[in-house]
Amino acid sequence: MQIFGVASSKGGVGKTTLTVNLCASLASLGYKVLAIDANLTTPHFASHLGYKLAPYTLHHVLKDQIELKYAIYPSFNFYFIPGSLSVEDIVGTEPERLKESLNSIKDFDLVFIDCAPGLGKEALAGLESSENVLIVTTPEHPSLLDALKTYKIASLLGKNVVGIVLNRVRKLSKVEREKIYKLLDFKVVAEIPEDKNFEKALKYNLPLVFYKPQSKAAVAIKNLAFKLVGRKLISKTWVERLIEWLTK
Ligand SMILES: Nc1ncnc2c1ncn2[C@@H]1O[C@H](COP(=O)(O)OP(=O)(O)OP(=O)(O)O)[C@@H](O)[C@H]1O
Ligand SMILES: [Mg+2]
Repeated sequence: MQIFGVASSKGGVGKTTLTVNLCASLASLGYKVLAIDANLTTPHFASHLGYKLAPYTLHHVLKDQIELKYAIYPSFNFYFIPGSLSVEDIVGTEPERLKESLNSIKDFDLVFIDCAPGLGKEALAGLESSENVLIVTTPEHPSLLDALKTYKIASLLGKNVVGIVLNRVRKLSKVEREKIYKLLDFKVVAEIPEDKNFEKALKYNLPLVFYKPQSKAAVAIKNLAFKLVGRKLISKTWVERLIEWLTK
């Protein structure tokens, strides 16, 4: 079992969106995948999948009220542990319990922790519970600086930082791209373009890799998913796809 944390100290850069899509992509490859919403104050993972209320959540686990296995739900081709949407449930949760509670998970190939933003207790608990860390940033300067900070902290915690995912990339000039890559010390593992389809996919509660599997953003995420497990995505050209469709 491998545990990946998806982190950023800056909020709203696309951690949850990326986690949902990586899980769906890797599950499509046959891996048994579990996602954990470790954003305890503002959990959104379940709502990306169209779930509103879950009787048992990570909050109950971190309050030692239930065993972790009772908070696992199936969705699409993978599994997830949601957070509670109730404010009352935040009181008394101990984020430090997360790492220990993961010891009871045995039958998954890959676990993804959708970390909380910031560098507080809950964000650190997500990082500490991960073996491998993916850092997400958008191309704006404040976000890039925060990504570097998260990188440093994850490294100090002894984590294997897989790299930085540059998300919501609009057209960049060569000079702009060079500047960003230099600032990030060439640690970028994937670039995901800005794509309006993310918004539409979210409206239909679908991972983008299912809603628009051939979009550039979906292909970029699938490429990253393959990279995480050491495989290579062989992308079909539109001619190959047309022939496949005609001969179906
Ligand atoms: N590449 C992209 N192109 C366009 N929109 C995107 C892209 N990535 C994410 N988004 C949108 O950005 C918004 C925030 O994404 P998301 O909730 O995944 O961020 P987050 O980092 O998990 O936020 P938080 O820090 O609050 O947990 C969502 O509306 C999502 O659809
Ligand atoms: Mg999130």
